[in-house]
Amino acid sequence: MKIGDITLKNPVVLAPMAGVCNPAFRLIAKEFGAGLVCAEMVSDKGILYENERSLKMLYVDEREKPLSLQIFGGERESLVAAAKYVDKHTNADIIDINMGCPVPKITKCDAGAKWLLDPDKIYEMVAATVDAVQKPVTVKMRVGWDEDHIYAVKNAQAVERAGGAAVAVHGRTRVQMYEGTANWDIIKEVKQNVSIPVIGNGDISTPQEAKERLDKYGVDGVMIGRAALGNPWMLYRTVQYLETGEILPEPNAREKMNICMLHMDRLIELKGEDVAVREMRKHAAWYLKGLPKTGSVRNEINQMTTRDNMNKLLFNYVDQVEEIQQKIS
Ligand SMILES: Cc1cc2nc3c(=O)[nH]c(=O)nc-3n(C[C@H](O)[C@H](O)[C@H](O)COP(=O)(O)O)c2cc1C
Repeated sequence: MKIGDITLKNPVVLAPMAGVCNPAFRLIAKEFGAGLVCAEMVSDKGILYENERSLKMLYVDEREKPLSLQIFGGERESLVAAAKYVDKHTNADIIDINMGCPVPKITKCDAGAKWLLDPDKIYEMVAATVDAVQKPVTVKMRVGWDEDHIYAVKNAQAVERAGGAAVAVHGRTRVQMYEGTANWDIIKEVKQNVSIPVIGNGDISTPQEAKERLDKYGVDGVMIGRAALGNPWMLYRTVQYLETGEILPEPNAREKMNICMLHMDRLIELKGEDVAVREMRKHAAWYLKGLPKTGSVRNEINQMTTRDNMNKLLFNYVDQVEEIQQKIS
């Protein structure tokens, strides 16, 4: 797949996820084979007012590339200015516009999913952004606002006419938030009605499902979000399955905790130990998902405040699991 002049080595894309897709996790996703990694959304106004936290979110490690950096906003002037900033001052490859965030705090400011109600505005905002920058501009959208306002095809066509280089479509409406199931038939309809690349998104939880979505719905790429939380192997196993047809085994407890600690050490480098360990509590719980007898370790994670304590806790758990497994075999 090509997005503007950026070539992706495979169609597997890590979804943008706020609070998750910082350089620490993105680099792991890239090392696990993702063809493209997306950064968490950043506020256009935060960039304009040079808010320290927002500017830090624009950092891109060379090893993550190609990388898509997502901005959100509701007003043309600030959105375009933020895009120009990203264009000039970051080494992101792609500028993505968020048109899917369902949270009221965002939609009240006419940003995120609010755009989905107005294809003309989409055209105008995307065209103004494309005109102002050198990097390719893409859009990530939901299929519509609610069941009665599903303008996915019109909205994607507006992106295409405005010069957008690709569109990622999450098969839910804004009103659905994360409930119900993603509607891939609408994603297919979008694919059939635009000629820019379409990346399908929503509810892909296994490599086989990723392949089925590519084959059955004809999308150019598959975007994987929640299934990659604490599980970058999902990306690796999907890439391998698409390339060789082979389903690789799931990782064991030790392999998972090794990557969890690599993730934590990278996060510590970025944010310092205090903040990183607190942030890693949720990730550690995700890394433990699917492993046996995690009840007490999960409870204890939330009391951890240092890297070494977290490390000890996780590997004590691994030792216990391995001991039980040895007894059984
Ligand atoms: C924790 C979390 C944070 C998210 N943050 C963003 C975001 O910053 N920008 C965005 O476009 N979508 C965001 N999303 C939506 C995902 O990119 C994706 O569209 C959604 O999770 C559906 O895909 P999935 O079923 O593979 O998880 C977020 C989702 C989750 C679970």
